[in-house]
Amino acid sequence: MRNKKSRKVAVLEALSRGFTQRTLDAGYMDDPESRKAYGEYFGTVGFEKGAAISREIRNRNLLAFEGKKRLSMVDLGTGTGEFVRGLSEGFLPENAAGIDLLCVDRSMAVLQDFSDLWSPSGPIRLRLLPALLPETKELLKEVEGGIDLLSMANLLAENEARLPEFRELLATLFTRLSPGGMMVLVEPADKRSSRSLLSLGDDLMILFPDLRVDAPCPNDRRGPCPALDDPGDWCHEDRPMAFSSALTRTAASLGHVKDSLKMTYLLLSRREGRVEGDSRPTLRLVSPLHKEKGLSWGLFCDGRSLIRLRLLNRNRDRDTKSFGRLRRGDTLIDPRIGENLPASPEGPFVEWPAGRPVVGVRRPDGAPWNAQTEEG
Ligand SMILES: C[S@@+](CC[C@H](N)C(=O)[O-])C[C@H]1O[C@@H](n2cnc3c(N)ncnc32)[C@H](O)[C@@H]1O
Repeated sequence: MRNKKSRKVAVLEALSRGFTQRTLDAGYMDDPESRKAYGEYFGTVGFEKGAAISREIRNRNLLAFEGKKRLSMVDLGTGTGEFVRGLSEGFLPENAAGIDLLCVDRSMAVLQDFSDLWSPSGPIRLRLLPALLPETKELLKEVEGGIDLLSMANLLAENEARLPEFRELLATLFTRLSPGGMMVLVEPADKRSSRSLLSLGDDLMILFPDLRVDAPCPNDRRGPCPALDDPGDWCHEDRPMAFSSALTRTAASLGHVKDSLKMTYLLLSRREGRVEGDSRPTLRLVSPLHKEKGLSWGLFCDGRSLIRLRLLNRNRDRDTKSFGRLRRGDTLIDPRIGENLPASPEGPFVEWPAGRPVVGVRRPDGAPWNAQTEEG
């Protein structure tokens, strides 16, 4: 038992090191031991990420099909499949009459395992496509009828040498999205992966004026991501999550802490067929909330720039006390409306205007949020 356990940890250590240092052998998913360990550990976390994004899509009312039709989904770099399972199962039963899910991976062995282990029945039909991306010939044949939802999780990080070709692949697939269709792009929460994904999003935005960033950016962002202005900057999610004690123990033996979902992500869609969202100017908290002597502060994004905003404790009152409970990813009404306050990440703090209430709009998972009526 002990040996078996440490063998699993050794395999996970090698995978983890390979992911971080970008040194993994291309065939790692062909090895049964690697894919079993990946599925049990990274896959379990991936399932929760897929489920969280699915919830967010529902919370934000982004799925434009209202359960009337079968969804056509494509997942690139499916691996052991937990991410796309969490994502797709979240759309059933209310949001889709069924799902035709095309899974693409360079390893046929991992696709076959996924299909055998999951054996989705009834509303979800699975098709497997072994293909080395960004090669598109077979893939484009398979998606001739259009794509309602395209997902890609943790694939770019393994293909850094070919980012321009992956950008082309995603641009081609963007043109295949059905009206109301969307792309779910997820990469690890590290600076390198985050900046690659955010740059790719900016490139697609230049190519497609009708592209809409549904999340995480506030205010229907239409220009470059402000996190890319400074080469040391990046943007990621960190949503608290309780995992099983078995998983947290495995994490601890790897030197990881697993108490949240950490990821960089973009939800992109075509404007056509999309209902416009919140129209009031908002800010999203893109850092933890820092508490210091006499004040709390955080880095907020308005979709154009980053703002260091702080509330002095002496200005705390009934209307502003929820500032002190803000969490990374919360969206609130921009308190600067009508005020001419400076906005610079390096410059002095922008002061929360005295007497201006904190008005919450959405929680990190897109759920509507009213800071004035909600405690905690
Ligand atoms: C880190 S795993 C991610 C699996 C799953 N999407 C997730 O988030 O848990 C990356 C997967 O992409 C596949 N992959 C990597 N590069 C690929 C490429 N160029 N073409 C096709 N598949 C690729 C690997 O075989 C592996 O199964």
